[in-house]
Amino acid sequence: ELRLYKSPAELALMRRAAGIAAEAQQAAVRAARPDVAEYEVEAALLQVMRAHGAVPSYPPTVAGGANACVLHYTANQGRLARGDLLLIDAGAEMACYASDITRTWPVGGRFSASQRALYEVTHEAQCAAIAEVRAGQPFNAAHDAAVRVIVEGLCALKLLRGGARTALKSGDYKRFFPHKTGHWIGLDVHDVGDYRVDDEPRVLEPGMVVTVEPGIYIPPDDTSVPSKWRGIGVRIEDDVAVTAHGNEVFT
Ligand code: GLY
Ligand code: MN
Ligand code: MN
Repeated sequence: ELRLYKSPAELALMRRAAGIAAEAQQAAVRAARPDVAEYEVEAALLQVMRAHGAVPSYPPTVAGGANACVLHYTANQGRLARGDLLLIDAGAEMACYASDITRTWPVGGRFSASQRALYEVTHEAQCAAIAEVRAGQPFNAAHDAAVRVIVEGLCALKLLRGGARTALKSGDYKRFFPHKTGHWIGLDVHDVGDYRVDDEPRVLEPGMVVTVEPGIYIPPDDTSVPSKWRGIGVRIEDDVAVTAHGNEVFT
């Protein structure tokens, strides 16, 4: 319970951990080119973290192409190809406090139409979810908002059939969005703290910090969808603190 409520000093350390992870992501953008290995991009991330005296808060995911559809991929042995997306999930730990960032972008500098469509749905979902991170909202409001946007987006793209209400009710969307939208973050990247209290979703209060990380993943072998969608994985993740009057995105 104590760890759920960050003091101003703890929030300052988390901002610093977030800033280092953001700088590492920017270094990764510069390092990523066609034919570069995923582990070389990982090295660029680690160089920035260590140069600041930070360490990774978890093993980084550097996932080119369809590797982005493997959740918690950490092999980082593939080679980047023009036309692929690159998904990087990497956080820094500074003075014991964690950050956790995911970015996804095209290796060759331009999205294909299908990559762009899934990126835009994911981004819209993340914006809707971040808007729910504020005092007085239940923890799960962000996830519910992200699910709503993703289901509507996947229906509009005809990746889900039968309309948004049907896909929501059946849970069919979980084939493409199989995880939750966030978690507490602090001394641990998945920090301690109950998500439900007295069998009700916990209500957010100032000083709590969560991640907001919707994603869409179309398995490379999913023959139920046209081939232009297969093997695309997108996630966008930021660290968001609840403040007295809204929220602060640290990343
Ligand atoms: N990097 C672990 C997570 O996003 O939860
Ligand atoms: Mn996370
Ligand atoms: Mn992450």
